Amino acid sequence: SHARIIVDRDFTIADVSPRLFGSFVEHMGRCVYTGIYEPGHPEADDQGFRKDVMALAKELGATVVRYPGGNFVSGYNWEDGVGPREDRPVRIDGAWHTIETNAFGLHEFVEWARRADMEVMEAINLGTRGVDEARALVEYANHPSGTYWSDLRREHAAAAGTSGEPFGIKLWCLGNELDGPWQIGHKTAEEYGRLAQEAAKAMKLVDPNIELVAVGSSGKQMPTFGTWEQTVLTHTYDEVDYISMHAYYQEHDGDAASFLAEAVNMDGFIDGVVATIDAVKAAGKHTKQIDISFDEWNVWYQQGLETEDQPDQVAKEWKSHPRLIEDRYSVTDAVVVGTLMHSLLRHGDRVRIANQAQLVNVIAPIRSEENGPAWRQTIFWPFARIAELATGEILRLVVDADQQPTARHGDVDVIDAAATYDAETGVLSLFIANRGLEEAADVTLDLRGFTASEVLRAEVLTIPEGGDRHTANDLQSQEAVGLVPLEGVRLGDSGQSSAVTMSLPALSWAVVQVK
Ligand code: AHR
Repeated sequence: SHARIIVDRDFTIADVSPRLFGSFVEHMGRCVYTGIYEPGHPEADDQGFRKDVMALAKELGATVVRYPGGNFVSGYNWEDGVGPREDRPVRIDGAWHTIETNAFGLHEFVEWARRADMEVMEAINLGTRGVDEARALVEYANHPSGTYWSDLRREHAAAAGTSGEPFGIKLWCLGNELDGPWQIGHKTAEEYGRLAQEAAKAMKLVDPNIELVAVGSSGKQMPTFGTWEQTVLTHTYDEVDYISMHAYYQEHDGDAASFLAEAVNMDGFIDGVVATIDAVKAAGKHTKQIDISFDEWNVWYQQGLETEDQPDQVAKEWKSHPRLIEDRYSVTDAVVVGTLMHSLLRHGDRVRIANQAQLVNVIAPIRSEENGPAWRQTIFWPFARIAELATGEILRLVVDADQQPTARHGDVDVIDAAATYDAETGVLSLFIANRGLEEAADVTLDLRGFTASEVLRAEVLTIPEGGDRHTANDLQSQEAVGLVPLEGVRLGDSGQSSAVTMSLPALSWAVVQVK
């Protein structure tokens, strides 16, 4: 197949928000326990944090990390996770049918994030709890000292031998997926909108510098999608800064072509939320702009998997940190993850925060075994490269590509791309996927407003020799799929050139940097 892409350095969408490369740590399955935290593991540090997992999380380049849920947070008492460990209660987590020991809580997470060099994005419980617990948590986390909750933080920190300084958490989620009937404390948009407004007011009265995310729809397929955002924002427009989006994608019935085009769905979902935000803005005569926090997204096989880590299997007994949704990602999944990140970049003027769900073990780019090794799944690679290399400004590309028919999305471009241009370094970074399952794609970049004289980097993730599109990185074959050099990237003429050509293998995701 063929594609031509016009890359004009003056056609910019927005600066790259560093918070686009966020992740998510939920008290779910083995994300916390035996994921980021495993005292007794040979790689555990003085706090029980796994150094091998921490090193991979840093290499992944995640910038901001949402915590502690997820569905978990809607039944969670944050106070259970602070203070001396021996006094912390063991509780039932109804969301995941799990025993929560509370051995890991807010202080541990803030310290983990500090060591990992990531910003904390804290979610509050608006399922079973309300305004009072929310404002107490902000006071506990962010108030300097001299009040009940801030002094309690200092006392707990002193007893644990850590710093009593305020955590300084800026980003807060006003609950999780409260539009979903599965959520503990599920609410109508009216009920949630009012509660979120009052919680937001009370939290900002404690710390006016915080940024707040209202809960949006759990997916485009939700029956209330659209009206939920409209009602919630009508109540909360003045109090909040972002509205959330969540989306998970999977291949259905072997239809890889449709799966590979799910970024089309993501593009449409984002456009719908932007339109709804702006309609509320106009009707309410507001001047401020509300942006999007896409704080859960990934590939997740929710239907059709009969493995033992599915929630309905796990619910047969009560355990602490059972294996839950430890999806094993293939080459195909990695290409899709690349294209979902392209979609986020293409909407970078309105999507300013995004969190891949989750960080370790639970639908995650990083896997770890209890008392065993940690490794990178296939989806680690597009995330890590985009997080590292997307700098400067996002460019609006004009793509003229051969079409590929799909059952779910109609005809789609066989090529999916996003690009950034960093004026400080003069580097263009192109992220590009070939959705074609059979054919290589010949791609020409037509550079406008700048020329290139050097190819700085050209790497591709594709089907490895001897593998197929289902090949994954398992415990036994941790590096089966990765990035390899993309050969044959050429500048059109010798010297300064305004054209770059390349050939992308069938089913591949690539990064090309020129200067
Ligand atoms: O990330 C897994 C789950 O997906 C989260 O707990 C929930 O918010 C969503 O439904």
